[in-house]
Amino acid sequence: MIALNLSKPFLKWAGGKTGLLPQIIPHIPAKIMGTYYEPFLGGGAMFFRLQPERAVLSDSNAELINAYVQVRDACDRLIQRLHGHQHLHSQAYYYQVRGQSLQLLTDIERAARFIYLNKTCFNGLHRENKSGQFNVPIGSSKTPWSVDKEGIKAASLALQDAEIVCRNFKDFPKHDLKDQDFVYLDPPYQSVSKTSDFTSYTRDGFTGGDQVSLRQLFGFLDSQGVPVALSNSDHSFVREMYDQWAIHSISARRNINSKSDGRGCVGEVLVTANCREEK
Ligand SMILES: C[S@@+](CC[C@H](N)C(=O)[O-])C[C@H]1O[C@@H](n2cnc3c(N)ncnc32)[C@H](O)[C@@H]1O
Repeated sequence: MIALNLSKPFLKWAGGKTGLLPQIIPHIPAKIMGTYYEPFLGGGAMFFRLQPERAVLSDSNAELINAYVQVRDACDRLIQRLHGHQHLHSQAYYYQVRGQSLQLLTDIERAARFIYLNKTCFNGLHRENKSGQFNVPIGSSKTPWSVDKEGIKAASLALQDAEIVCRNFKDFPKHDLKDQDFVYLDPPYQSVSKTSDFTSYTRDGFTGGDQVSLRQLFGFLDSQGVPVALSNSDHSFVREMYDQWAIHSISARRNINSKSDGRGCVGEVLVTANCREEK
């Protein structure tokens, strides 16, 4: 029997929040009485930490969402497939799997491919070219990759009652939410400099217009009394957009750029409404 609190992200996700949770959690509701919503799921660090009873998890990345569904529903078969990748792993094999045509694969095969590439690629990046093809090179890790069987099983258990949906945040069901719910928004960040630009999780990227639409969603949820928190970079554009709400400074160490001058400590912010804040 696996204890629920052992579960953690089963993916290595650029922009993942695990390291920042101790700074974020004191600002969000102490207890979620309703449903937890995470519309930019990625590695789902917040979900795995909170382990809410009811959760709706979504992301616009269809391969990511398929991986979550397979972890939830077909964990053992998925682990078996992953062992197959582990056995064959090499540089040549990585590029062979990366070049596979998704249309020819079953859902389980796609999920195993996605997790294998995520674990062995450079820095857990997910970047796509203009045709939607995953194009991150192999990572340089000296430690051989092995399947984290117990980790995947624990994640599967934590996900059992979660609703998992592939959806653009623009289709978020904002009218259905109540004031006992909680929404955590962790979008691709507004870039702080040319070297730290990383907005290409999907082929369409995340534009300034998307940041404005997200601000509208945040404002709507606040107007309905729904507790909501949003992470973003500490950028004047972000601070101006959210200046009517409580903005908490979060210090972060990011490691998602290939250029060394894009690494190190950069500021982030957490904007909250209807949580525990005093403006
Ligand atoms: C910063 S990451 C989230 C990281 C996550 N909180 C974690 O702890 O790993 C942003 C996520 O937003 C997703 N995304 C990008 N554009 C989106 C959109 N328009 N709608 C929904 N999700 C989107 C990406 O696929 C990516 O998984």
